[in-house]
Order: sequence, then structure tokens, then C-alpha cells
Amino acid sequence: MIIDMLETLFLIIVIITVYGFARGSSSLAPWVPTKVKDYQRINSLLEVNNSKRFIDLGCGSAGLLVYLAKANPGVKFVGVEIALPLFLFAWLRVKLSGVKNLTILYHDLFNVNLSDFDTIFVYGYPRSIKQRLTEKIKQEVKSSSVLLSYVFKFHNLNLSTVDRPTPNSLPIYIYKF
Ligand SMILES: C[S@@+](CC[C@H](N)C(=O)[O-])C[C@H]1O[C@@H](n2cnc3c(N)ncnc32)[C@H](O)[C@@H]1O
Repeated sequence: MIIDMLETLFLIIVIITVYGFARGSSSLAPWVPTKVKDYQRINSLLEVNNSKRFIDLGCGSAGLLVYLAKANPGVKFVGVEIALPLFLFAWLRVKLSGVKNLTILYHDLFNVNLSDFDTIFVYGYPRSIKQRLTEKIKQEVKSSSVLLSYVFKFHNLNLSTVDRPTPNSLPIYIYKF
């Protein structure tokens, strides 16, 4: 009896996990975290832009956000994640880290209003940022805000500059509105 229940529970957890990861992969991108060696670079961009409200669209396990939130106690950070296992991991990580200026939301990023943020960070694959996300950004991002796109370019937005300190660095495409 107990074995049957444990089997069912195990199956449910597997289904929720697979479904969660599949949702993320088919929407913006699968979970591929930002490289830890780039955290400091992203932090410098945030400071240069004098950001007060920062959002990571598809925050994964929130490693980048926890780093940034610790380094910038005066900035409000939000992470949105659609994959339930990653959301739970990120939420727990934030609680354990003790940072108070970071909120993780279990949401589809396409349901979040971007006009509330002055810096928007995204690490999405070209197929997904090309149309739907570009349209959303054009409609919602307020003037003087900044979009930081890690690795991939938004071809239908006016690029302001590219942060790529060495030819081996991954590019961060910067769009100022
Ligand atoms: C390439 S990873 C980036 C993770 C994190 N931003 C980082 O840089 O370390 C993309 C993340 O977006 C999440 N994702 C995909 N589609 C999403 C959606 N529609 N809404 C919220 N999160 C989404 C995925 O589950 C995945 O964790």
C-alpha cells in the first residue's frame, strides 16, 4: 500500500518536473544559466544605467539575481520563472540567502507588465525573442529603460551598444529606449 503511494507520488513529481522544463523550453528557452564569470559584468551595466527596478525574464535558478540583489541593496529585483521545479529552487534559494530586495514569481513572462521596470534582462533563444517578445517589449517598455539581452540579438530593435570586453566573451546586447 505504502509502496503504491510512493510510486504514484514519484510519478507525479516526474510528470510535474518534465512538464515544467518542457514549458520553458517551448516558450523562451530551455534552462541554460548565465555564466557566473559574467555576473560582475552585468552588475556593472546595471550600475551604469542607475537601475532601480530590474527584472530577469525567465530567471531559472536565480543565481544571477541573488548575486545582483546582494550587490545592490537599494535596487528592487524580480525574477519570473515558468518551470515549477526551477521556480521552487529559486524561491528557496532566495529565502536561504536572506536577501530582502528580490522576489521570484511563478509566472509566464508574457503576462508580466514590463513598464514597471527600468532594466530588463533576458537570455532567450532567437526563435522566441524574434517576434512575440520583441512586440511585447516595443509595446510595454517605457522610455529611458534598458534591455540587456544575453548572447542573442533582437534584430527588430535599435541596438545601442554591445558589451563584449574580449573576442572570447559572450556578447550582451544593450537597447536603450
Ligand atoms: C536560458 S534560461 C536563462 C536563466 C536565467 N535568466 C539566467 O540567465 O541564468 C531561460 C529560462 O527561461 C525560462 N522560461 C522559458 N519560457 C518562459 C516563460 N514564458 N515565462 C517565464 N520563464 C520562462 C526557462 O524555464 C529557463 O529557466
